Amino acid sequence: MTVWDSLKKPIFCLAPMEGVTDRAFRGVIAAAARPDLFFTEFTNVSSFASEQGRTNALNRLKISATDSPIIAQIWGKNPNHFATLASSLKSLGFSGIDLNFGCPDRHVNRAGGGAAMIRTPDLAIDCLRRAKLNSNGLPVSIKTRLGFTYLEEYKDWLPTLLKERPAALTVHLRTRKEMSKVPAHFELIPDLLALRETFSPETKLLINGDLKSRAMCLDLWQQYPSLDGFMLGRAIFDNPYLFSKDNHVPTKTELFNLLNLHLDLYESNNIEPLKHYFKIYIKDFNGASALRTKLMECKDVESIRLVLRAGRQDRSCRRTAAYERGPASATPATAGGRDSRPAKRTVDRKRANAPLLKSKNLI
Ligand SMILES: Cc1cc2nc3c(=O)[nH]c(=O)nc-3n(C[C@H](O)[C@H](O)[C@H](O)COP(=O)(O)O)c2cc1C
Repeated sequence: MTVWDSLKKPIFCLAPMEGVTDRAFRGVIAAAARPDLFFTEFTNVSSFASEQGRTNALNRLKISATDSPIIAQIWGKNPNHFATLASSLKSLGFSGIDLNFGCPDRHVNRAGGGAAMIRTPDLAIDCLRRAKLNSNGLPVSIKTRLGFTYLEEYKDWLPTLLKERPAALTVHLRTRKEMSKVPAHFELIPDLLALRETFSPETKLLINGDLKSRAMCLDLWQQYPSLDGFMLGRAIFDNPYLFSKDNHVPTKTELFNLLNLHLDLYESNNIEPLKHYFKIYIKDFNGASALRTKLMECKDVESIRLVLRAGRQDRSCRRTAAYERGPASATPATAGGRDSRPAKRTVDRKRANAPLLKSKNLI
């Protein structure tokens, strides 16, 4: 039995996010409220296959006990390199292998990987087959988009993949061209379910894109009970307790504790990437913005701890009324991308994600 068969439906996954879902952040989310399945950031198969790239690739593939079960996401365009990396993942502790056939990043696509695979289906299938043949029994899944340029592409592209009987297929409900600029195409879920039924009934089908909360997913699941699961990405920036079963809205203290844990787990001497996460933890109380500014000026982890300690004790830092109300739960009715949250939260969220998203065309 593979990990995909062992998890209860609906399966909740934290989406792979480059520069976000590294080992430290996964540790934080595991401590807050873990999803059923974690994914790594994507790792390039050709880096792993090369002498110069291997150490870096292996670093990206380090996992902790609290990550388990976790799936390694890999990308590239060289079938031999897919085989090489796939053959190593079981011994590294992974429960599955996911092929990234959906990343819209220009550099990734120019290198022939990610969503570019939608335009080279024969190569995609070759890579998939080589990964499967060399996976030492690990299940191989795929994450992709509906098409590269046109929405209708899904009618050929998804059957092409499904005919290979992947263990699971996660569809980000947009084309590559649409990036994340248009609402996800929830209206196509019935078509996707029908394609899965026709071409590979045993493949787990998960959807991704614009899923804002567990409650929203459960509403969708009531509507489409044959969906196997949901993959949520950016919503974790709004609430690290996203996967809690009771829709937990964290207190200021809980969020401070999570940032402290993130500092404990952080492994690099370069603290600049760490600063991208501050807005996840330091928000929604009077003085949050000023405290974040102080944190951004820090030069090392120890000074971050000191600033945090002072901020924790500052009794003027009370939570704002808007925050006390908690996040408005999104429902399928708003699933078309229109956010039902108060305008203030929407603006805050965009700001929160800006540093993570600006430099990366990953969504
Ligand atoms: C910062 C960032 C990095 C991402 N990196 C990856 C990645 O490494 N692999 C991948 O398959 N998707 C990646 N994505 C896409 C997400 O997995 C997901 O498909 C996308 O964000 C849409 O889902 P959401 O609306 O729940 O965020 C990334 C997205 C973001 C925001």
